[in-house]
Amino acid sequence: MTHSISPADSFAGRAHLPADKSVAHRAALIAAIADGPSILHNFPSSADPRSTLSCLRQLGVPIETSPDNSVTVHGVGRSGFSAPDAPLDCGNSGTTMRLLSGVLAGQPFCSELIGDASLSSRPMERIARPLRTMGANISLKDGHAPIRIQPCDNLTGIHYKLPVPSAQVKTCVLLAGLWAKGQTILHETIRSRDHTERMLNLTIRSADDGRAIHSDSSCTIPQGTFTLPGDFSAAAFILVAASLAGTAPVHMSGVGLNPSRTGLLDVLRRMGANIQISNRRTSGVEPVGELSVHRNPLHGVTVSGDEIPNVIDEIPIIAVAGAFAKGVTIIRDATELRYKECDRIQATVANLRALGANVEEFEDGLAVTGMVPLHGAKVSSYGDHRIAMAMGVAALGARGTTTIEGAHAAAVSFPEFWDTIAALQA
Ligand code: S3P
Repeated sequence: MTHSISPADSFAGRAHLPADKSVAHRAALIAAIADGPSILHNFPSSADPRSTLSCLRQLGVPIETSPDNSVTVHGVGRSGFSAPDAPLDCGNSGTTMRLLSGVLAGQPFCSELIGDASLSSRPMERIARPLRTMGANISLKDGHAPIRIQPCDNLTGIHYKLPVPSAQVKTCVLLAGLWAKGQTILHETIRSRDHTERMLNLTIRSADDGRAIHSDSSCTIPQGTFTLPGDFSAAAFILVAASLAGTAPVHMSGVGLNPSRTGLLDVLRRMGANIQISNRRTSGVEPVGELSVHRNPLHGVTVSGDEIPNVIDEIPIIAVAGAFAKGVTIIRDATELRYKECDRIQATVANLRALGANVEEFEDGLAVTGMVPLHGAKVSSYGDHRIAMAMGVAALGARGTTTIEGAHAAAVSFPEFWDTIAALQA
C-alpha cells in the first residue's frame, strides 16, 4: 500500500493511541504461564502482539479475544505448554521471537521459531549465547532464525552481564530463569525498558555500575486483570507532528509514562517543545498520564550515550524533528538501529535526503541540519512501521505531496496511524 500525505491547514484535536506493544507481549506471555485465567483489557490489535497470541495458542494456551479489545488468557502454568505441531511464526516481531525463546529454552519438547524476511535477518546469537550457557540446546542459521530449540529439563541459573543494552535480551534471560535451577542474575549497566521486572516484581539490587535483576523458579507469576497503557512509542509520532504542525493543542490520554521509555520527552523539551503532562496515575504496575502538545519552534540537540536505549525506537522521529529544528541535531552511539526491522539509520538518511534534507550518515548515527525547506517526494517504509510513520510526520512539514511506499507497515504497532493523522488534519 502507498499512502500520500500533504500538509493541511489544521492539525489539532485528540488522538487515540494503540496499547503499548512491549507491555502487551509481556502481559500475554506472563498470563500464559500463570495458574489460571487473566483478563488483559485494552490489548492492541496491532500485528506484533497478535503474533505472540498466535504462538501461545500453538503452545496449547486457550485465548479468547472480545470485540471490546479485551483478551482472556487461560494460563496453563509453568509446565502446561504442549508441543507445537508446526513452526511458531513470529511474523515481524523481534520481541515475540526473543522473549518466547527464553520461555521455550527450558521446555520438555522441540520447538522452532520462524519469522518474515526482516526478522530472519536480525541477530539472534545475542539470545542464543546466554541461553546455551544456561544449558539450553539452541541452533540458529548463521546467527539468525529459524531458531531450533531441543527439549531441556535442566536449565541452570547464570550470572549474565548484558553486552548490549537490550530489553529483549534481558527479558529472554530472565524468563528462562523461571525454569532454571538456582538464581539467574542479569546485570545491566545501561538501563533499558523495565516492564518485565515490574510485572514479575523481580528483586533488583543496585550495583556500582548498574542494576542486578534476579529471577528464579520460585518467582510468583501474577494473575488477574490488567489494563494496558497507551503506547508512548506511538505517542512519539503525534508529539513530534503536533510540535511541528499543530494549529491548536493535540491531546492524548492514558499514555504509558514509564520513565525507562519516555526519554523522548526530555529530548523534545531540550529542543524547545511545549508538552504538558497531567492526570498522572498508575495502571497496574505502569505509570500513565495525559499528554498535551502545543506547536513551538524547535532547535537542534545532541542525543547520545546512555540516553540511547531509552529513545531507541524514537530515533527516526527525532531525526525528523531535527529536520525542522534550528541548527544541527546529532545522534550518536546508536549502531543498534542498524539491526531493527530495517537498517533505520540508512532508511532515515535516504528518506530525509529524498525530501531535500541536509543529512550526514555515521556508522553509529546521523546529523541533520534543520530548517532546510523540505519538498514532497516518494519515500519508502523499508517495510518498517516506525520508518513509515516517521515519514508520515515529515510529510506534514514538506511542501507538496509525499508518497510513502509500504505505508501499511504501520499496522505492526499502530494500525490506525494514517486515520489518526487524517482526523487530526480534518
Ligand atoms: C523492545 C525492546 C527494544 C525495542 C523494541 C521493543 C521490548 O529492542 O527496540 O521495539 O519490548 O523489549 P532491543 O531490546 O533490541 O533494544
